[in-house]
Amino acid sequence: MHPLLVIGASGLAREAIVVARAAGLDPIGIVDDDASRLPYPVAGVPVIGPIDRVLSIPEARLLVCIGSGAARERVVARLARLGVDRSRYATLIDPSVRNPGESPIGVGSILLAGVVVTVDALLGDHVVVMPNTTITHDCMVGDFATLTAGVSLGGGVSVGRRATLGMNAAVRQHLSIGADAVIGMGAVVLHDVPAGATWVGVPASPMRYAEAGGA
Ligand SMILES: CC(C)(COP(=O)(O)OP(=O)(O)OC[C@H]1O[C@@H](n2cnc3c(N)ncnc32)[C@H](O)[C@@H]1OP(=O)(O)O)[C@@H](O)C(=O)NCCC(=O)NCCS
Repeated sequence: MHPLLVIGASGLAREAIVVARAAGLDPIGIVDDDASRLPYPVAGVPVIGPIDRVLSIPEARLLVCIGSGAARERVVARLARLGVDRSRYATLIDPSVRNPGESPIGVGSILLAGVVVTVDALLGDHVVVMPNTTITHDCMVGDFATLTAGVSLGGGVSVGRRATLGMNAAVRQHLSIGADAVIGMGAVVLHDVPAGATWVGVPASPMRYAEAGGA
């Protein structure tokens, strides 16, 4: 079994550890910069030190288990500056995932139970796809994007780098979700969403924040 170090003592880490074991990897430790998490085990795996500890265990593959795509990107960039290259990252795919067209899935990506990738899709690096999400033909999902549970992407949808789609959001075919955009839970997206925007609702529209102290 290949040793695996998990980065981030998170709920996603627990979800990934159980899949990793089922996929024949051996999670030997978790690294986290929050010293208060030492040495408490997460899903039976001890927290062994700060993130830079991965440098002292070069034989272990790595998996960044941090929910925020922007935070995942910061960790990967930091480790790259310390000489950790792309080839060290594992790609974690739950055995129940269906990807019959063998669409490419980038390094560091995590696909949890029940995800379906139909055909001719492309998933970048360090993408997180939570249970029962459906990615249909010709979709492109950018690096560090996060698709939470139950998301549905129509054919030809493009999801930008670091974008996050909330639970059960649905995106009409051929639309584009910009980089860093956030789509709220349960949204039905009928138009392109600009980079950095937060859209919610049915049909989805830009989220309006209540004014502080407003009537
Ligand atoms: C969209 C989202 C990011 C907004 O979070 P936030 O900035 O903390 O916003 P708030 O909860 O303060 O809500 C702000 C307003 O938007 C509304 N709102 C929030 N989320 C909404 C949603 N998904 N759909 C419709 N309206 C929503 C709130 O009712 C509130 O309206 P009000 O000002 O009229 O009372 C968040 O609600 C969301 O949907 N996150 C995804 C969660 C998820 O899928 N998690 C998976 C974890 S694994």
